[in-house]
Amino acid sequence: MIEYDAVDIAQGVIDRMSDCKDARFKQIMTSLIKHLHAFAREVDLTPEEWMTGIQFLTATGQMCDEKRQEFILLSDTLGLSMLVVALDQARAAARLKDSPGASMPTEATVQGPFFWEGAPKLPLGADLAEGKDTVPTLYSGKVTDTYGKPIAGCVLDVWSGDDHGLYDLQKGENAPMDLRAQFRTDQDGRYHYWSLKPSLYPVPVDGPVGKMLTRMGRHPFRPGHMHTMLRAPGHHTLVTHIFVGDSQYLDSDAVFGVRNSLIVEFKQKPAGTAPDGRVMTGPWAHAEYDFRLAPV
Ligand code: BEZ
Ligand code: FE
Repeated sequence: MIEYDAVDIAQGVIDRMSDCKDARFKQIMTSLIKHLHAFAREVDLTPEEWMTGIQFLTATGQMCDEKRQEFILLSDTLGLSMLVVALDQARAAARLKDSPGASMPTEATVQGPFFWEGAPKLPLGADLAEGKDTVPTLYSGKVTDTYGKPIAGCVLDVWSGDDHGLYDLQKGENAPMDLRAQFRTDQDGRYHYWSLKPSLYPVPVDGPVGKMLTRMGRHPFRPGHMHTMLRAPGHHTLVTHIFVGDSQYLDSDAVFGVRNSLIVEFKQKPAGTAPDGRVMTGPWAHAEYDFRLAPV
């Protein structure tokens, strides 16, 4: 009969995987077991504390449904989602080292829980915020590959909350899609569309993750941002944001998603004719951003 003490239970669990055929899975589980056990030893975890942890994880799972993913929120607020994004970016950088003349692809950031596949396909120049009492904001730029070659027909999904920071998905079961659309770049890889200047907002705090943030003494806010997903054949899909340059919380995003390269000045413009020919009778704003996609 083997008796394990607190130090070698981890090795005992790892040893039981000797018949595991999947080398990557075995590597991940080995490391997970080692670190989980080291964590429990480091904090000298009590049975009551671990039961609290199990109840928290249970509540996190029970909060999930088709529209709400509390586990992703947990991963986001613990910084794990952004770490995984950063590791992916580091792999892309390593691949690029052998490609003379190539620039780094645009930095990625968290997707968040509010992407909704199937947004209306709109022509370039459409206004997603038409009829809303907000400052019209023009988003424009081009999409190229990492060598600067324009990518025509790149599909851009864009989505944001409203001027109070609320997404359509948070407005009740039957709320229609709002402030989201899909565009395609023109033959020069250019895009432009109108929407509003997104507001800062809190991540959902009505579940266990919200309680965790409060107990940690943390605020739940994200700085204003426009979500953008770019898909083009032969290129890695990019999921990123354009962050509003003068927004609060750029330094303390609740999900650690801000990258300096994604912060954009939203230039205030007076009434007049916008670059796309739209005649503006009042003030408007302009956010210009060029995206670079990595070839597969
Ligand atoms: C968002 O940007 O929509 C978001 C991202 C992570 C967690 C919650 C919300
Ligand atoms: Fe968001």
